[in-house]
Amino acid sequence: MSAAKRGLQRGLLIIAVLAALGVAGLVAMQWLMPHGGEQAGSGQVSIGGPFTLTDQDGRTVNDRDYAGKLMLVYFGFTNCPDICPTGLQTIAIAMDGLGADAAKVQPILITVDPERDTPPVLKEYVQAFHERLVGLTGTPEQIARVAREYRVYYQKVTLKDSSLGYSVDHSGFIYLMDGQGRYLTHFRHDVSPEDMAKRIRAKF
Ligand code: NI
Repeated sequence: MSAAKRGLQRGLLIIAVLAALGVAGLVAMQWLMPHGGEQAGSGQVSIGGPFTLTDQDGRTVNDRDYAGKLMLVYFGFTNCPDICPTGLQTIAIAMDGLGADAAKVQPILITVDPERDTPPVLKEYVQAFHERLVGLTGTPEQIARVAREYRVYYQKVTLKDSSLGYSVDHSGFIYLMDGQGRYLTHFRHDVSPEDMAKRIRAKF
């Protein structure tokens, strides 16, 4: 192979690597918006997918167990200081606002801290918000997989001056999925409960 040809090949390789990095950067940007941002879910990006996890009663469940209901899916963790409680409270008030129609909706919290959020821990937590709220945990691999499917970013952060030891940064969208688990829309964690209930109702 000539030196010129090798040079050309190397150039093409560099361009390919840069292009791949560019795509990775865009994906990372979409993820690196802890508890905020508005772009996720727009366009034709596919969000959601099948999962097998463990609920707050220790039962193995999968996405098909909730088929026929709109799934309201939120990723968070029980030690989250304020963002998760806000989002979950909004979900609870929206559920109450839906009245009898709330039966058509399954609110779900999927933990991004599976090490600490065992079924008993989740059970106590979800019960404090709403009787219909389901809490799901799993192995770190199961959680990583479902988070990937939902394009949820989460990352352990070491806390130096806290007995907790670590916190978990995570994106704060609340996803609304249809009766077959397909993405319908999403809410920011700071959406009002009235708005959420109204937009859910529009999807019945
Ligand atoms: Ni949180």
